[in-house]
Amino acid sequence: MSSVKSPELSRLRSYLQRSLLTWYGRHARDLPWRRTKDPYRIWLSEIMLQQTQVATVLPYYRRFLKALPTVKTLAKASEDEVFKLWEGLGYYSRARNLMRAAAVVVGELEGKFPDTVEGLMALPGVGRYTAGAIASVAFGRAAPVVDGNVKRVYARLLGIRRPLNQAAAQDRLWRIAEELLPARRAGDFNQALMDLGATICRPRQPACDECPIGRLCDARRAGDADRLPVRMRRKALPHYAIVAGLIERRGRYLIGRRPAGGLLGGLWELPGGKVEAGETRAAALQREIREEVGLAIAVGSHVASVYHAYSHMTIDLHVYRCTVSAGRCRPHVHTELKWITPAQFSRYAFPAANRKVFASVKL
Ligand code: ADE
Repeated sequence: MSSVKSPELSRLRSYLQRSLLTWYGRHARDLPWRRTKDPYRIWLSEIMLQQTQVATVLPYYRRFLKALPTVKTLAKASEDEVFKLWEGLGYYSRARNLMRAAAVVVGELEGKFPDTVEGLMALPGVGRYTAGAIASVAFGRAAPVVDGNVKRVYARLLGIRRPLNQAAAQDRLWRIAEELLPARRAGDFNQALMDLGATICRPRQPACDECPIGRLCDARRAGDADRLPVRMRRKALPHYAIVAGLIERRGRYLIGRRPAGGLLGGLWELPGGKVEAGETRAAALQREIREEVGLAIAVGSHVASVYHAYSHMTIDLHVYRCTVSAGRCRPHVHTELKWITPAQFSRYAFPAANRKVFASVKL
């Protein structure tokens, strides 16, 4: 909360506010969550947009609201319904937090969303960025936002040439965003920054000639906009070979639900796991199925192998048909196990790699 404004930013401030708001008036993207002031709808859009591009979010957003048009309907929905509506969007902890937050709003706040940054941040899954977005867009509060788009715009505009993914740089950007924010129309200003970052001040090949704030942009003057912001090199992601079984018994297949807290928590999957060093895929699959569900299996034909990149690792998933030779089925790592018919697969939400396999196989 800096009360002392830096002279450099003061000069920029009114030019930036005027130019951006004028540009937004003409060029704002027509997005469904901009046609409403309903905090439920704006909150939902911001949660979906946290890790996902606008074009991907649009059909999910429409489908979700058709099924669950109010926070009350969401609070009453089953976990399977919400996960199914989220299936394919990724980062499934968002769906779980959505249900938790709806329970808080309905159960403790009489169905009303908090209208301050602090109140919003008390909801599960709502961080500083999302709280700023909802507070400014739905409630007209003068709350700043800093996300990847905003960082890029400000790094270029102000010529910040040190790596941005460090705590000190993050703090500085939040202070800058706060200083540059107008007291009125903060929601429009924030969304103008998002749109500028998405359409003009793009990560690669920014369209500087069309930029409404290009006249004062340091990077444009220096000619290095496409090299900003500077990032610290990330470590290469780990890669794993995973085996999973399409275990059949009397026309049904075994699926397990992953535990809530962890990676892909709450989704259903074919049982299996990582291939250890020196292990064959068949041996790994037999070991994993014994450990996870207590069954001895015979490994049959190869069904499919698919590659998938998650945010923090890449995998090759190898799936084999299996039959049960002995044992009783018990969930040792899953919260629930089910034997389902081929027709029932579409009712459950599965991780992306599993769905890629289903797309390539006749059950
Ligand atoms: N990304 C995050 N929030 C957004 C919004 N309100 N409009 C467009 N893109 C966004």
